[in-house]
Amino acid sequence: MRVQVAIVGAGPSGLLLGQLLQRAGIDALIIERRSAEYVLGRIRAGVLEQGTVDLLGRAGVGERVAREGLVHDGFDVLFGGQRHRVNLSALTGRHVVVYGQTEVTRDLMDARLSAGASTIYDAADVSVHDFDADHPRVRFRVDGAAHEVACDFIAGCDGFHGVCRQSVPADALRQFERVYPFGWLGVLSDTPPVSHELIYVNSPRGFALCSMRSPTRSRYYVQCSLSENVDEWPDSRFWTELKARLDPATAGGLVTGPSIEKSIAPLRSFVAEPMRFGRLFLAGDAAHIVPPTGAKGLNLAASDVHYLSSALVEFYQSGSRAGLDAYSARALARVWQAERFSWWMTHLLHELPEGGAFSARVQRAELEYLVASQAARTALAENYVGLPY
Ligand code: FAD
Ligand code: DHB
Repeated sequence: MRVQVAIVGAGPSGLLLGQLLQRAGIDALIIERRSAEYVLGRIRAGVLEQGTVDLLGRAGVGERVAREGLVHDGFDVLFGGQRHRVNLSALTGRHVVVYGQTEVTRDLMDARLSAGASTIYDAADVSVHDFDADHPRVRFRVDGAAHEVACDFIAGCDGFHGVCRQSVPADALRQFERVYPFGWLGVLSDTPPVSHELIYVNSPRGFALCSMRSPTRSRYYVQCSLSENVDEWPDSRFWTELKARLDPATAGGLVTGPSIEKSIAPLRSFVAEPMRFGRLFLAGDAAHIVPPTGAKGLNLAASDVHYLSSALVEFYQSGSRAGLDAYSARALARVWQAERFSWWMTHLLHELPEGGAFSARVQRAELEYLVASQAARTALAENYVGLPY
């Protein structure tokens, strides 16, 4: 079997890249380790930058997000028992859109199906070969049978634990990492959101986030220790802890109900440089991870795909390798902006177990500076809505 581009991984990066290439007439095959249902069942990101929404539009999958996505012109930061609004639209002229990663994935899967483009799900033992030479190939098994795909390029869109980054020789890669000593316990519930906008909470009991998926579906998170076990968090314990981190008025308005999903995510910052090795290009979580506090992971995956798809289209249309050669540096410039912002938001809002009393006071001063200074709020808002491409 031969294709122009073999894409490893059918998360948002792989599916969006596949869709943009398909529309440009470039033949791409997606190879995914899990089933389509499993991929759709992962509850993750919820906040899209305008640039990401625009890219979905250019990929021909912008219709449902335009109809059902919730436009948010601001969010609240709650600390010291008071909510303070960050007015994104007034400060930057831009907004964000709340629309679940599950829905983005579903729209892309549907578009792929109706275009007749092929995705191989449940592929076992996926491996990538010869990407340092002119004839890369991807091998895998389906139902025990071995397959090999020859291609011009491999796109490693297989997430943090994927095979592509791990197949690059260790001495060709520089890795930067910070693991945080806490995680997020998240709950999804069919209850109306406590507020029409997101609330990012700094409290003595730790960080919390009130988010949503729709006017009838809420997503809440509380900071937890890494030793926490999700089975020890019945719904009643979760709701009690969340309320304890909110101010009395907000806690009083919280509608609770049975959870429909509950999971713990660790927090990590990670970057692998460069993002290209010969004919292998990494995109999304395969190359970098941000802690979720700044809502940047999915948006960074989209920005990588924006640069990579344009570079591949340019190559197939004109033979120019300029975009391919510039890909890693372009993507990484944006990645490090998001890494800095996500690291800063994480330190601003979480209880820092290793920080001690001094860092708690500095954190409080930083929060008060945000309330006092429009310039400080503008910097926060600019990063949150996303820097223009
Ligand atoms: P993934 O979604 O990880 O997809 C990779 C795919 O590759 C998977 O389907 C996997 O099964 C497949 N795969 C892995 N190994 C192989 C293999 N060997 N062979 C074949 N396939 C393989 N981001 C935001 O922008 N905003 C948010 O609000 C936000 N909130 C988040 C909240 C939480 C709790 C978490 C955990 C993440 C959040 N993120 C957020 C981050 C966002 O979900 C990720 O950055 C995004 O999923 C990255 O997409 P991806 O396609 O690069 O990787
Ligand atoms: C959500 C997740 C985030 O990490 C964030 O910063 C905002 C919202 C969410 O899942 O809704």
